[in-house]
Amino acid sequence: MKLIPRVFIGSLMLYTSVIQAQVKQLSAYAGANSDQRVVAASVSPDATRIGLSVADAGGNAIDAAIAIAYALGVVDPHNSGIGGGALILVRKANGDILAIDGREMAPAAAHATMFHRHGVPDAEKSRTGALAIGVPGSVKAFELLQQNAGKLTAPDVILPAAELAEKGFRLSNVVALRTKQTEEKLRLFPASAATYLTANGVAPEAGTVWKNPELAATYRQIAKQGSAYFYQGAFATAVDAWMRKNGGVVTANDFKNYQAVLREPIVSRYRDVEIVGFPPPSSGGVHIAQALNILEHIDFKRTTTSERYHVIAETLKRVFADRAAYMGDSDFVSIPKGLLDKGYAAELAKTISLDSAAPLVTAGNPPHDEAHLQDRHTTHIATADTDGNWVAITTTVNTSYGSKVVIPGTGVVMNNQMDDFSSAAGVANAFGLIGSEANAVAAGKRPLSSMTPTLIMKNGEPLVTLGAAGGPTIISQVLQNIIWMVDFGMTAELAIAQPRLHAQWSPQHLFIESSFLRPVRDALEQKGHRFTEWNSIGYSQIIEKRNGFLIPVAEPRVISANAR
Ligand code: DON
Repeated sequence: MKLIPRVFIGSLMLYTSVIQAQVKQLSAYAGANSDQRVVAASVSPDATRIGLSVADAGGNAIDAAIAIAYALGVVDPHNSGIGGGALILVRKANGDILAIDGREMAPAAAHATMFHRHGVPDAEKSRTGALAIGVPGSVKAFELLQQNAGKLTAPDVILPAAELAEKGFRLSNVVALRTKQTEEKLRLFPASAATYLTANGVAPEAGTVWKNPELAATYRQIAKQGSAYFYQGAFATAVDAWMRKNGGVVTANDFKNYQAVLREPIVSRYRDVEIVGFPPPSSGGVHIAQALNILEHIDFKRTTTSERYHVIAETLKRVFADRAAYMGDSDFVSIPKGLLDKGYAAELAKTISLDSAAPLVTAGNPPHDEAHLQDRHTTHIATADTDGNWVAITTTVNTSYGSKVVIPGTGVVMNNQMDDFSSAAGVANAFGLIGSEANAVAAGKRPLSSMTPTLIMKNGEPLVTLGAAGGPTIISQVLQNIIWMVDFGMTAELAIAQPRLHAQWSPQHLFIESSFLRPVRDALEQKGHRFTEWNSIGYSQIIEKRNGFLIPVAEPRVISANAR
């Protein structure tokens, strides 16, 4: 009898120390600045720390978010950086909402069959090397954001990241792993190997102190000269010269013509909250709104766990079928506004049975009126402050290390966002996504994205900022996080920790995390679902206002991957 309390106390202490270790780790990824005005969450403790130190220097949530983005380009270069693009959704303290489109743009020489070899699309051409690269948008987008809503200057938010690149930082497990996985392709480009591999041409080990002095020098020039250095100055000239020698088509003129665009956010209603999403060229805002319009017809209180996942999967299949059929850059193609129609969603909801998976879903028929949506490897950053600024930035070079090209002398990894176009009808991109004519390559067009920076508001007041990384799974992650928080009243910490599922219509089967319990899997199988199991699906970041406090929540999956 006496032993029991001792065992109990021992295990309680062990449990407490595990929790304490987790909390310590968590606060490195997601935390508040010294006077608790600004909170931030990102996939990197180094980047979050830089964002919060910029807040300590007087910055607001916008300054912190931009500082984090520049820092991620240093410490997490396979995911994002200034050679890529960004979609930014911001609610300013004065209540204005900005949707800043810093998506990459196809160069003037781009055309629908540019990735074909002997009449057949060649995936390698849109994924690795010169032709894969779109004109990057991040630098312009961050500049526009800061001029609109920041408190500090460009040097204030860029130079901390430059210093980190000069002094060095420890490589995380995740970065080391991704570098190992791409090492062979990085070796194809001498400047990429020199920047990201050891002198022996292999990926550095996790924990190695790494530096990127050339990227630091590029950052210092942008801090000094603004985006003009990147789009009209030496950086654009260096890209032009490299492209000419390496079979590329992006020119200095393409850089000069690039603009970040202010777009109209998509606002929809779900139960008693308002959802603010990013419009095309993102597909995320449209399809989150459409999916929630469908799920509004489900009474979640009357469902079992497997039924919940089942209806979410069936909804995702339907919205991804529409994504493939209708979505593209709204500056080039007309996207039917009917995709957001509540009546259309009600019709789609009727096609979902609680008992069985639809064997073959095809794209629906949204009302085709004259109204169109716009009349006229990735990372997500969440910040907010007590003044009422709320930020959601999803930014990417696309797949790990993008095109694998570093422009010599710059330290900058260039994106391979051209692969997000549909190279031919029915041909899948790196994420298995297919598309139609609406997302075909064209000069000056922006490829369709799944990036989904999102805000949840109630009676016009922001409650949550959220978003994710992970290609098309971004849409599934954001949808599930919203459902768990809005319908089930879960805290952001609990919502983000729920087992995740993903469906994208093509292929028709589901992807589930290995944490799915056996009875739930069996029930899903009985309904006719087939699935592939993944260890984990994507990385989300969330900030939630709870009891008047701002609570930043970082992705536990990345924290545990780095802690291993
Ligand atoms: O814009 C998109 O949808 C993709 N380029 C995002 C890529 C991504 O999330 C990669 N992450 N693992």
